[in-house]
Amino acid sequence: MNHNSSSISFDINSIKETLDQSSSYIFVLPVLLLVAYYFKTQNDLKPKSKSLTPSVKATASKMDQRPFGYWKPDLTWKTPTPKEYPNWSVKTTKPVPYRAFKHKYNVTMAIRNMPWDSWIELDNQWLKFHNMKLKRIAEKGQDVWRISPKAVDAAWELLHELIAFTSAKYPSLIKFDKEKQILKITETNQTFDLKAKDFNPIITAANLVQDELVLMIEDPEDGQYSLEGGCITMAGFWKFKEKFQMKLDEIHTSGSVPKYETHLGPAMNKFFRRLTVDSPVVRNNYFIQTDEHIDWSRSIGPEESDSVGWNAATKATNIKDLWFRSERQTVRRLPKTGAIAFTIRTYFMPITEMCEEPYVPRRLLNGIKSWDEDVNEYRGFAVFKDVLLPYLQKRAEEQEADGLVLDDEPQDYPY
Ligand code: HEM
Repeated sequence: MNHNSSSISFDINSIKETLDQSSSYIFVLPVLLLVAYYFKTQNDLKPKSKSLTPSVKATASKMDQRPFGYWKPDLTWKTPTPKEYPNWSVKTTKPVPYRAFKHKYNVTMAIRNMPWDSWIELDNQWLKFHNMKLKRIAEKGQDVWRISPKAVDAAWELLHELIAFTSAKYPSLIKFDKEKQILKITETNQTFDLKAKDFNPIITAANLVQDELVLMIEDPEDGQYSLEGGCITMAGFWKFKEKFQMKLDEIHTSGSVPKYETHLGPAMNKFFRRLTVDSPVVRNNYFIQTDEHIDWSRSIGPEESDSVGWNAATKATNIKDLWFRSERQTVRRLPKTGAIAFTIRTYFMPITEMCEEPYVPRRLLNGIKSWDEDVNEYRGFAVFKDVLLPYLQKRAEEQEADGLVLDDEPQDYPY
């Protein structure tokens, strides 16, 4: 748009100059009008927006007119089957290197449309995550997984969706015999009989993927979504058992998520209610952690303690103790039950390792320096700033002295 209007004024100015010289406006005015008309019609032919199409918008507003808690099962809609991931290997396929921080941090929902093929992403960390999950489930029991009566059907639906998706995308790892209802995970030689009496759909679902899983159900009284099922074994800074059956607002306000009441909450509640089955989204976030434990960040206090937080943490003194923690979250509505499935895949690596990559130190430095005071408090800025900021500054200067061209930095978030 801007580009075109500036090119119009450029053309007009240059024509005007010619006119001044010849003083014959009368002949040139019609030409000017024709030029302007040409650019206008060209502009009208361009797509105006990349966001939601009108038909999806119409469906979303229909969603708003449903009675609270009401969902008519959509038996015709099918999740698009992903293509098999070419040459995927549980041993060698590397994790997608998301470096989801910008030069300027803004508190927004930060959601993007999710291409269906990417709903679940598995890689060579699968076995590590799988073993960690099983250990946590064995140690913590129902502290890390639950299904309320409201979410039983949704847990089964999520399992079936995950089986269909992962067995199509990663057939060397996940196999499903539909007739016999037998699921196999090749890497671990596990077999699950979905017909078994004591079968647990959410734990089985957790076995398949590296992601943490949550089911949100709409309340018939107020239309708010509450956490009615899931398996969350390594949230790092919060506990599944404390958030179980909380509403979306309380989940976030109890954790003092910055600007939740003012900016995020109203938009999120609207978004959840209007989410259609065909418009899944994805978002990435990041944190700095001052210890190496992905399951529970011990720096903020022992997991068993009732009061934990950055206030309890001792100041970091060594850059080697700082870790980059980043989550890739997806949100989609399941067609049969209408439950919302929320997945969280955590990526975790030493800051020093990530700072080997071009542009990372400068961008992370700028991003963190742009946090507001409430974000600083939420993310423990005071605990790591004295170690992290000078380190990032030094690494950024080194990269730039080595010839890194800042103008060539890729702009494709989440990088
Ligand atoms: C579109 C959906 C959602 C958005 C935009 C959103 C946004 C956020 C944001 C901005 C934060 C602060 C940390 C960060 O930057 O990520 C946060 C934290 C959190 N979110 Fe969400 N969230 C969403 C869905 C959910 C759902 C479905 C759950 C259900 C379990 C959830 C649970 C949490 C928890 C437990 C925290 C940490 C709170 C704490 O520190 O205690 N979020 N969320």
